[in-house]
Amino acid sequence: MEFSRPRGTRDFLPDDMERRRIVESRMRGTFESYGYREIATPTFEHLELFIERSGEGIKKELYNFKDKGDRDVTLRPELTAPVMRFYVSDMQRMPKPIKLYYFGNCFRYEEPQSGRYREFWQFGCELLGTDNSEGEAEIIGLAMNAIRAAGSKHADPRISHLGVLRKMFADDGVPHEEQRTLMRLIDKMDKVGEETVRTELEKYGEGFAVKVLDLVALSGGVETLDRAEALSGAKDAVSKLREIGHYLEFYGVKPTFDFSVARGLDYYTGMVFEIYNDMLGAEKQVCGGGTYALAELFGGQPVSSTGFAIGFDRILVALEKEEALPELKKGCVFVVPIEEKRRSKAMEIVAKLRASGIKADVDLMRRGLKSLKYADVIGASKALIIGDEIEQGKITVKDLKTGEQKQVEEAQIAEYVK
Ligand code: HAM
Repeated sequence: MEFSRPRGTRDFLPDDMERRRIVESRMRGTFESYGYREIATPTFEHLELFIERSGEGIKKELYNFKDKGDRDVTLRPELTAPVMRFYVSDMQRMPKPIKLYYFGNCFRYEEPQSGRYREFWQFGCELLGTDNSEGEAEIIGLAMNAIRAAGSKHADPRISHLGVLRKMFADDGVPHEEQRTLMRLIDKMDKVGEETVRTELEKYGEGFAVKVLDLVALSGGVETLDRAEALSGAKDAVSKLREIGHYLEFYGVKPTFDFSVARGLDYYTGMVFEIYNDMLGAEKQVCGGGTYALAELFGGQPVSSTGFAIGFDRILVALEKEEALPELKKGCVFVVPIEEKRRSKAMEIVAKLRASGIKADVDLMRRGLKSLKYADVIGASKALIIGDEIEQGKITVKDLKTGEQKQVEEAQIAEYVK
């Protein structure tokens, strides 16, 4: 019987994993250079955690199940809620700001397509204790520079502030529950279509619908902010965006203020942003985040919180499209005993090379010189051939690119190969 992998999941070959690890380590470097420290949380959580955050509706997107103790648990769909659960139980007293980052797999029961999987990896961070514009700019700057460090050149940051739409909703007397529905619809406008959104908005008057759609259509540099302020009267939210825009210059980021960015999840409260890569198709959002309130929902003291998550797999798809995938690090040395009587010596040499930090491999198939072909295929740079000259303390070193051969003293071999 042949087994296939579950829908929406992937296997990764060694070349894929090597590329993923290179990109991961570049991104990790950026998070650490901004002073963020890594944390980890369990792969599964109590189902309640995500219901509390997003309501029963979230269940259809979850991989949830009952464990053997009849407890409702779920594979995590994201890491912000787990991190905030952890914050409330263990970190509330730590000096602020608390700067945390994470890299982990997430699970969502979605319709799989290119760039959308049921198991995927998120690289993200949370900044806790401040929602000053410097902090929010740092978050956007970090997201952009982590994507750049990964090697991607097509990152388009779109920033908004929920305070702008919320003020318009409140001024027109839209009840709180309805505000959530409208916010979700606006977030999905590219999928549900403008007409659907207009119909919903017109329930509160035609003039209101026109004004909101005018705002949502606004997108551009700082010059758009005056218009946003005139349409909404949301002075504080707009001036926050102006400040963030100013600080972002220091991160080399020129943002687009785009009021169609509403974020689907209910816990966002202030600045929100998404980063797109135009080389990707429908799933072009490589990062999403913003300022949110979750601590009090999980029984803690309120704490200003801002964060984001980058879709790591989408970054890999983007790098492939941009022809910017990292080069694989080839170049081990391959030790070949020509005859059976040289096998022990070959094992001794490969062990010494490895112990001195050299990436070394040895013929495990007993193919003798025929193993040179395999050495070439795996990208070895040199073959160390152990033949009769070992009696005089010498090893034949063959350069697998040029074919050149040279005899080297056994005692000097590690130095020579390095
Ligand atoms: P999110 O927008 O749901 O935000 O996900 C963040 C990123 O994860 C997306 O922009 C996308 O690149 C990637 N992603 C989402 N679903 C999939 C999927 N099925 N397959 C591949 N990639 C996917 C959050 O998760 C928030 N926790 C972000 C955050 C952190 N907000 C504040 N702090």
